[in-house]
Amino acid sequence: MSDHGHGHGNGHHHGGPLAAENLLHFADLDEQFGTRDILGARYHTVLNELAQIVEHQWRSGIKRGLIKGFFLSGPPGTGKTTLARRLAYELGRRFAATPDEPSIVMALVDGSAIARSRYGESEERIRDIFAHAQSGFTTAGQRTVLLFDDVESILMARGSEHVKEWHFSQDSVFFHAVDELDTSRAVVVLTTNRPDLVDEAIRDRFLEYTIGYPDADILIEVARNLGTAQQFTPPQLDDLTARLRDAAAAGEVKSLRDVQRFVIRHYVHSVAGERL
Ligand SMILES: Nc1ncnc2c1ncn2[C@@H]1O[C@H](COP(=O)(O)OP(=O)(O)OP(=O)(O)O)[C@@H](O)[C@H]1O
Ligand SMILES: [Mg+2]
Repeated sequence: MSDHGHGHGNGHHHGGPLAAENLLHFADLDEQFGTRDILGARYHTVLNELAQIVEHQWRSGIKRGLIKGFFLSGPPGTGKTTLARRLAYELGRRFAATPDEPSIVMALVDGSAIARSRYGESEERIRDIFAHAQSGFTTAGQRTVLLFDDVESILMARGSEHVKEWHFSQDSVFFHAVDELDTSRAVVVLTTNRPDLVDEAIRDRFLEYTIGYPDADILIEVARNLGTAQQFTPPQLDDLTARLRDAAAAGEVKSLRDVQRFVIRHYVHSVAGERL
């Protein structure tokens, strides 16, 4: 469909309704995960389950699969977005091993891809995105992992009565598109850290996974990995581990994002400490 006059995000003719930077190809995902994979056995267990389900529906050509996709909910910084991207990479790997399989693209839908000033335009956007997921975003027959990241901010935000109504109309377009989704070539992933803001109807259509705070041993594994990448010495790594164990036990570090902040702080202290 035509996309004239929207003012921003244009110049992406191949990707249709999404900007080029919102379309991730296998090479992009390989750059992120090829040399440093996600850590933690629990994450890999969930990843394998998701990949298994999608692989089955895609390989068997199940067009009206019961599972349209996945709803990943959990606290901030626990790896939901990363898991969704890793799933696209995993599918890329599994299908690349089979010659003659079409390529796979991960399409990132964010608030700016949907939000439009005039009533009705957002609905048109949603239809257009799903139409591209059906036909392929950049090549014909391409398969798509469609990610609605922080879905509550895209579709389900609450506000004034008017906004509520508006969102209701977006939601019904979204659900219709999901119900019509060809599950032999596309899968939808939703993430949120505010499941309380998300419509109940989501739970009828998507398989729900709660991604909780990781155990301390995963937090430590991630921290040591980050420290190693910053060339921490073995004593520095052990010091980091001991401090992190205390911070985790005290509930000061809970998410993977907390770990990153903790390592940065530790890094700054040790570098500054050596110089001063
Ligand atoms: N399994 C993992 N192993 C190592 N690092 C990870 C893993 N999962 C996520 N990370 C890192 O932790 C940080 C937070 O992850 P991510 O952004 O995926 O969390 P999120 O749950 O989507 O957060 P939010 O709810 O705020 O959107 C990222 O920098 C990511 O690279
Ligand atoms: Mg996220």
